[in-house]
Amino acid sequence: MQWTTEQRYTRIEDVSSSEWNALKKQVDSSPWRQTYHIQPETGLLNDPNGFSFYNGEYHLFYQWFPLGPVHGIKYWYHTKSKDLVHWENAGIALRPNDDIDSHGAYSGSGIVHNEKLYLMYTGNTRDHNWVRHPKQNIAVMDENGFIQKWTKPVIGDVPAGYTDHFRDPKVWKENGQFYAIIGAQRTGQTGCVVLFSSPDMENWTFEGEIETKLPHFGYMWECPDYFTIDGQGIFVFSPQGIAPEGDSYHNIYQSGYVLGNLNVETKSIDHGAFWELDRGFDFYAPQTMEAPDGRRILVGWMGLPEMAYPTDSHGWAHCLTLPREITIKNGRLMQRPVRELQQLRGTQVKTAADLRNEVKTFDSFSSTAFEMICSFELDDADSCGIEIRVSEEEKTIITYDALKQKVHLDRTHSGALVNSEYGTVRSCFLAAEKITFHLFVDSSSLELFVNDGAEVFTSRLFPSEDSAGIRFFAKGGRASCQAVKWTIGE
Ligand code: FRU
Repeated sequence: MQWTTEQRYTRIEDVSSSEWNALKKQVDSSPWRQTYHIQPETGLLNDPNGFSFYNGEYHLFYQWFPLGPVHGIKYWYHTKSKDLVHWENAGIALRPNDDIDSHGAYSGSGIVHNEKLYLMYTGNTRDHNWVRHPKQNIAVMDENGFIQKWTKPVIGDVPAGYTDHFRDPKVWKENGQFYAIIGAQRTGQTGCVVLFSSPDMENWTFEGEIETKLPHFGYMWECPDYFTIDGQGIFVFSPQGIAPEGDSYHNIYQSGYVLGNLNVETKSIDHGAFWELDRGFDFYAPQTMEAPDGRRILVGWMGLPEMAYPTDSHGWAHCLTLPREITIKNGRLMQRPVRELQQLRGTQVKTAADLRNEVKTFDSFSSTAFEMICSFELDDADSCGIEIRVSEEEKTIITYDALKQKVHLDRTHSGALVNSEYGTVRSCFLAAEKITFHLFVDSSSLELFVNDGAEVFTSRLFPSEDSAGIRFFAKGGRASCQAVKWTIGE
């Protein structure tokens, strides 16, 4: 279905309850509804926003167009949780119904200040000539969950030298001062981030552009984030316009990080190489927060802009990733599923086997929603791995190629095709004697943590409901394998 501009800018407040109920019914009957991931009730979810801990709970908002699987007028939807596992839908947080956000309440972040949760976000507005005017706005949530928008933007204009692609403020506090970085595009059509500062969250000063070693790296940087772990600065952003290179950058847009400390005086980051955060097919616009115990937690959008997905015909699209704990090891980020997720573990089964150039199945190793940890020790095998969501026609293959020292995720035969013009295999280099795959599989997704989070592959999968088999294999020789699996929600 082609959506007209008018349809994309239709507000949820303006549809009848019968239209809404019909959409909800269509969504509810989708076989690809997730069972333990945050997903929209209807319509399209994109970026995580305002991820924070306030008043005893985690708050996680997301970009939402309620009325269909397209990027229409965006709302902020609010979910909250006491444990990062069980999320409660708390309803719409921000409605794009004011002059300051008339064409969408776009992405932003949250920070606790004066015992309230301050949400700083981009109001997307357009004038009569459909020219975009981004505003940076604030809304304040109190301890009762009541959210009040400020009527005037705190940053009303785009500084000279940048286009109207100027959005996604991420705010933090350092030495008693508030800082926000904003994703921007220079008038010369290259991406960057700029820095603002404020003593009080109300009055903001443009400090200037942040100098990096990536002056010509794509045409726009979206959803920037900056934080430190044990004094080491980490700058995360989602650049657009990066060409594929070897195994990297095969999705339409990328998300990655550099390690380096931001000097707010010189407005520069002295940093190392850019690394993709995720090697899978569907990951974008992540955001982090600091948990009360000091852990740095990241959540991403399990989807990409401008892509069609098989659930579109069911009236909804996308979900968020599971929360991951971020740490630093040998100059790279490690990402592990937060330990709280162990609460989801149901029935456990275990197996151990020697595989000699064969594919094996084991009793009870079959499911459509599960967690599994599977380790391989390669003897003389060329490759080893697992197949999941297997039936006669379908399978998703995870391989460790010991000869090339690469991990591959192959969704060529996973089920309904997803943007296959961008390829159906994702790979990355990983040198290892022993390989551990830690998987979270839901009705229509896979999050694969390799070797304790050294690499992660996040992908949507759209198999049929009865593709539930799990198989283990070794090729060209012998490998030993140990696996433990837990059902989730069954
Ligand atoms: C990233 C993004 C952001 C923007 C939001 C709009 O996916 O384009 O830059 O704020 O989505 O929904």
